[in-house]
Amino acid sequence: KDTPVTGSKRVLLAAPRGYCAGVDRAVIAVEKALERFGAPVYVRKQIVHNIHVVSTLEKKGAIFVDDVAEVPQGSHIVFSAHGVSPAVVQGAADRQLDAIDATCPLVTKVHREAVRFAKQDFEILLIGHHGHEEVEGTMGHAPERTTLVNSPADVPNIVVNNPDHVVWLSQTTLSVDETMETVRLLRQRFPNLQDPPSDDICYATTNRQVAIRKVAAEAELVIVVGSSNSSNTMRLVDVALEYGAKAAYRVDYASEIQQEWLDGVATVGVTSGASVPEVLVQEVLDDLADAGYGDVSQVVTAEEDLMFSLPKELRKDADGNA
Ligand code: F3S
Repeated sequence: KDTPVTGSKRVLLAAPRGYCAGVDRAVIAVEKALERFGAPVYVRKQIVHNIHVVSTLEKKGAIFVDDVAEVPQGSHIVFSAHGVSPAVVQGAADRQLDAIDATCPLVTKVHREAVRFAKQDFEILLIGHHGHEEVEGTMGHAPERTTLVNSPADVPNIVVNNPDHVVWLSQTTLSVDETMETVRLLRQRFPNLQDPPSDDICYATTNRQVAIRKVAAEAELVIVVGSSNSSNTMRLVDVALEYGAKAAYRVDYASEIQQEWLDGVATVGVTSGASVPEVLVQEVLDDLADAGYGDVSQVVTAEEDLMFSLPKELRKDADGNA
């Protein structure tokens, strides 16, 4: 039975939310490649982890593959925003594929750090999720010297050769709080642990978590728009629960919202992951308005204006001039 809601119903809309600069660039890269070279354009893995973005690009002629070995020789291939290991780049070159690298520049930054620390004989403790494409790409830049730290619980079991020459790096889309806890535990074990030169968790991940913390403190229910394989999206659900929401659910589409989630709820928080087009958020707001939650206010915790230039392969003109 519906619990009556006391007080007026409202939505708190987190800002920033949705597209980050790296996702925007990667999606435009596939669109531009299709315009310039015509369909099909192959894309290794999902260009960004969002089911709607992928199916929209598929309709325009993108073909998503898991492995460069599936791509016909001589075709165009786009590497996803999550980045690739040098072995994948080599595999594409071996097949004479014309590669367009849409790796987010903030992931490339972590790749460079991995290479540099490996050259200095550091052992790298990479905090990240086992099996995530970004982690595979980053580990591939220093495969001999990198150990994955999947969670704080992994810390006691890590084995290194020289405990005085270790550095931590991380995936860009982790929970800020959990990562800091992992680093704290790592430092207890390895007091000489070196920090990365700057944060690896990217600005977009951090900003979206800060915004949802504030929203969650006032909302009984938080709805996070995004796909289940999107790391930063899943972390928004975790952070919402940690910071006071009684319930938090992830949906790809507004149609997945279940009526009973709203039982007794006066304030609904809404946010979206970094790979989510705003149209999907708008559909959620429309459905919430139909359910009586038409009063929407934004909770703004940061302004974002970062933009990245297109991958260099797409900055050249038709004659190949940059
Ligand atoms: Fe890049 Fe961060 Fe977005 S690493 S792709 S800006 S979530």
